[in-house]
Amino acid sequence: MTQHELNTVSRVGVVGLGTIGAQELALWRRAGLKPIGYDISEPRARSLDGTTRIEDLDPADALILCLPNLAPSGENSMAAFDHFVDMAQRLSPRERLVVIASTVPIGFTRHLAERLGHQGRVVSHAPERFDPGRGTELGEIPRVVGALSEQALEATIALYARAKVPTHRVELVEVAEASKLLENSFRLVNISFINEFAELCRRMGIVAADVIDAAATKPFAFMAHQPGVGAGGTCIPTMPRYLLDAARQSGIEMPILRDAVSGNEQIVNRVAEHVKQLLSTGGKTDRPAKVLVVGATYKPNYPDARASAAVAFARGLARQHDVVVYDPIVDRDGFPEELPLMRELPTGERFDAVVIALKHRDTDIASLRQMSPILIDLVRGAVEATESIPSRNR
Ligand SMILES: NC(=O)c1ccc[n+]([C@@H]2O[C@H](COP(=O)([O-])OP(=O)(O)OC[C@H]3O[C@@H](n4cnc5c(N)ncnc54)[C@H](O)[C@@H]3O)[C@@H](O)[C@H]2O)c1
Repeated sequence: MTQHELNTVSRVGVVGLGTIGAQELALWRRAGLKPIGYDISEPRARSLDGTTRIEDLDPADALILCLPNLAPSGENSMAAFDHFVDMAQRLSPRERLVVIASTVPIGFTRHLAERLGHQGRVVSHAPERFDPGRGTELGEIPRVVGALSEQALEATIALYARAKVPTHRVELVEVAEASKLLENSFRLVNISFINEFAELCRRMGIVAADVIDAAATKPFAFMAHQPGVGAGGTCIPTMPRYLLDAARQSGIEMPILRDAVSGNEQIVNRVAEHVKQLLSTGGKTDRPAKVLVVGATYKPNYPDARASAAVAFARGLARQHDVVVYDPIVDRDGFPEELPLMRELPTGERFDAVVIALKHRDTDIASLRQMSPILIDLVRGAVEATESIPSRNR
């Protein structure tokens, strides 16, 4: 295919139809490029009018790879790409643009292109920056584009221009890869730090959110982050590990990032321990307390419970206490069956403690306050203990 032909791609194939693939599919539909969606999961493909037959991707001039970089267990893994490399050999050997939209380790795009053989002659990386639930359309978010050749770079920029997506070109594909890992790591470091800070505030008897609001009046060089149960989702807690791998291979340590990764994993235990301590001060028995955990999704105002730090927190707490979760919008899919879930606030019911793990829009704090003598608002870093804890003295 010539440069001109690649710049006038008439059909796009989207490989992997998860959260991001579904968004890419919609983007190219809107752009009039009649995208072909492909996924190894039959239900996933069916739900989006896609296919599970790789051969059906043959008419596509460009393939957008939206493959996962995690194993089902949650470990970092690029195995889906290995599988795709094998399958891609079944496509007819004509020139195609291959755009990697997934987050990948630094150096991965170059290596994948070599393995793709003929299919890998025109390869670029345009890492996806979509943030589900934020309300910003995928097409509104500028894409960083790096490529292995000028031809691939120009073709990718021309392609996204047809969907009216702004692009930022970089000289080296590794810069594009590293930029995405930097974004995720920057976010994790800030989240971990603000949670560490919130723990200090709690111990000193001040409310972290009040301090953050005060600091945020500075018109420059401060970016407010809110505390909570730690970073959740499939990107922020896990992608920085690829940067830590790169650091190890380059013979350096990145202690700030390393501590942010491990600190994020420890937040659940720290909060669970605090809840236990608070409850134990109210009574002398070892009876499990009745705790309402508010919020279960992996981020506010978005129904997905997969990889949710709030769910991990509720589960951790349920090992010691009787936990009920309240979330009006969480998808039942991906929410653990063993946890009791309420969609509406139970009127008149009392709990030993209410813990706000996550706040959707319109979370009714006044009603929550009525339900228990203890209200722990992890999002503000605030603890209210309004009375003694009679139910635990029974
Ligand atoms: N979800 C987000 O908010 C987000 C944001 C930015 C970037 N990303 C990145 O985008 C990529 C995709 O993430 P996602 O959240 O859409 O993942 P996902 O798990 O929701 O979807 C992945 C899809 O790929 C399919 N798949 C797995 N192996 C396959 C194979 N060999 N061939 C074809 N299909 C295969 C799965 O069946 C699944 O439908 C990841 O690299 C992620 O880091 C995700």
